[in-house]
Amino acid sequence: APDIDVEKVRAHLSQFSTIAANNGGHRRAGSAGYTASVSYLKQKLEAAGFTVTLQRCTTGCTYASDNLIADWPGGPADQVVMFGAHLDSVSAGPGINDNASGSAALLENALALAAANPTLTKHVRFGWWTDEEQGLNGSEFYVNQLSSAQRSAIKGYYNFDMVGSTNGGYFINNITSTTAAPLKAYWDTLNLSPEENTEGAGRSDDASFKNVGIPTSGYAAGASARKTSAQATKWGGTAGSAYDPCYHQSCDTTSNISATHLNRSADGIAYTLWKTAVGSNPNPT
Ligand code: PHE
Ligand code: ZN
Ligand code: ZN
Ligand code: ZN
Repeated sequence: APDIDVEKVRAHLSQFSTIAANNGGHRRAGSAGYTASVSYLKQKLEAAGFTVTLQRCTTGCTYASDNLIADWPGGPADQVVMFGAHLDSVSAGPGINDNASGSAALLENALALAAANPTLTKHVRFGWWTDEEQGLNGSEFYVNQLSSAQRSAIKGYYNFDMVGSTNGGYFINNITSTTAAPLKAYWDTLNLSPEENTEGAGRSDDASFKNVGIPTSGYAAGASARKTSAQATKWGGTAGSAYDPCYHQSCDTTSNISATHLNRSADGIAYTLWKTAVGSNPNPT
């Protein structure tokens, strides 16, 4: 698997920050800042060779706006692995950890896949969801409009929401599942002792997929819950303080990011993508 350059991920965060600053300070679903965020992704992904679909969420979304689906050509159409992140912020701020972090880590992974262009054993699809903050609505719309054949083709869905928390931990959704195994294996090789993502259970877009029977996992570094002393001992950081002290606040800016957490998530996504869709012998770096 390629090593994802965290500086390139951070450069995308800066672009999302500028987009928010130019559009009233946020990237809420249905707002100009959200539309500009979609355009930023679309331009990068199409230039790299992805097939990009903007899917208007018209049912169930509080703010009608688009999901962005990006398919990398190749791999069997009936064997799909999917990676997703919500692209919308709350209206209180620019949403750089929540969730430009997951969005940018996925974008850089998509660009790395395009650059490497490996032979694929699975079809790879990325999704950036709208209206997550109003109730996981964009991803729910996506799964509801799939045919049963399209739904059963998706063998796994990986979600990335808040992967750069400054006082973060190393959390994995459904950590004991076979779907989670590559995410866990990567962090295990770094001796990070990941834990189950209990704080985020049912609170992000993986729940939309899980609800229709698709196996799910994902990484998170944590939101408003507080780091325990045991976690501070093994991971560093400040016991008794929130994983993300700026959760859903105006201070969720590019300063509200741990480059270490961001890098380890971005690299683990690459490891997992290669492990699941390229072959059984990835070469993590
Ligand atoms: N980050 C989700 C949100 O968009 C919810 C969440 C909360 C996820 C806590 C993980 C942990 O607000
Ligand atoms: Zn890296
Ligand atoms: Zn949020
Ligand atoms: Zn979020």
